[in-house]
Amino acid sequence: MERGLEDVKSILKKYGQEHLLNNFDNLDEKHKNELLEQINNIDFELIHNLYNSTKQKKEKNTDEITPIDYLDKYKLNDKYKYYESIGKKAIKEGKLAAVTMAGGQGTRLGHDGPKGTYDIGLDSHKSLFELLCDNLKEEGKKYGVTIPWFIMTSRENNEETVSFFEKHKYFGYQKDKNIFFFQQGELPMMDTEGKILIGEDGLIKLAADGHGGIYESLVKTHMTKKMRELGVEWVFIGGVDNCLVKMVDPVLMGIAIDKGVTVACKSVVKANPHENVGVFCKRNGKPNVIEYSEITDEMAEATDENGELLYGESHILCNLFSIDAIERMGAEPLPYHVAFKKAKYIDKDGNLVEPDSPNAYKFEAFLFDSFGEVDDMAILRVKREEEFAPVKNNDSAGVDCPKTARELYKKFYKL
Ligand code: UTP
Repeated sequence: MERGLEDVKSILKKYGQEHLLNNFDNLDEKHKNELLEQINNIDFELIHNLYNSTKQKKEKNTDEITPIDYLDKYKLNDKYKYYESIGKKAIKEGKLAAVTMAGGQGTRLGHDGPKGTYDIGLDSHKSLFELLCDNLKEEGKKYGVTIPWFIMTSRENNEETVSFFEKHKYFGYQKDKNIFFFQQGELPMMDTEGKILIGEDGLIKLAADGHGGIYESLVKTHMTKKMRELGVEWVFIGGVDNCLVKMVDPVLMGIAIDKGVTVACKSVVKANPHENVGVFCKRNGKPNVIEYSEITDEMAEATDENGELLYGESHILCNLFSIDAIERMGAEPLPYHVAFKKAKYIDKDGNLVEPDSPNAYKFEAFLFDSFGEVDDMAILRVKREEEFAPVKNNDSAGVDCPKTARELYKKFYKL
């Protein structure tokens, strides 16, 4: 329910956020309304608790971590064709949709614009969005269907993303027929005193709530409803920054259908036991991903009787879900993780502050925190050189950057 100005003031007082209205009288009518609407949409109790969590000492983790089973795509033998035929049938029947998460800020890459518009330097100068779309179109052709494509943006990059697609005529897709845009959720950023920040526009400084916001956003923006109307049953969710992502994989789909699981994920084996990646595991008996910082050296190096790493299956944001699973996961918010970031803001005297070191808390949910919701899921190990060429950093980092992604892409497509 919309609150009036007096009610808003009393809520702000209760949570020590009165400063949010400091500049209210100087705003024009449009911004006044926007600010009130923003305040009305904030779950202050949640924000208050999140701030408190930043002050709590991290308790010693007592979770029981155990290895999780996986299948290797290239060791399936006869089963390969079996799974593939099940998946192919479902794809031909129009049961698959693709979702690309493109709401991130791409701070490490430092590109001026949505990451999906980035040109990785191929001779064709195609953007990441176009490379992804090329693959979708090529796969769709094989099965005589157009795979519906759903793109998650954020408030910050939505307009620029949609106009980029418009400029490129949606790469042959049709808006609102087989390509759909939806925006992810946001949370306010806070300073170290627990005060919500005001941005340069005089409004609350909001930031995208992490890729874990995907489930809730798909449901809230009625995209899962749209998918059902289109006859979709399975949804591949991937990132925008992996130029070799294979969103249409009949083997993965066939495995999910045959095994009766609602989530099936792809992994690539760690480049070395100490690579900084999250790996699949079981946490207290449920599927999960464990961050590299959480794992001991002993666990990282442990191998099975075949010499394979026990915790070697990297999570590469290539996951297939049934629509039911998405709806279930979207019903309850995921836990938020805190990041400490640099953020410009307007101080209490109305001056713009541009910090040169991190000054603000940002709260993000991680997509894989939902995996514990399911009792079982399938994991399929695929080949890194076929499916994983991420663009995370700029070239000076030397890894997961445009140069490495371009080389992998050219090698795979023999360009
Ligand atoms: P990353 O975690 O690599 O973040 O996102 P990022 O925003 O691209 O880059 P940095 O960390 O700021 O440098 C992995 C995928 O999840 C999407 C990204 O767009 C990317 O496809 N993502 C991330 C979202 O869609 N929303 C978010 O809030 C965060």
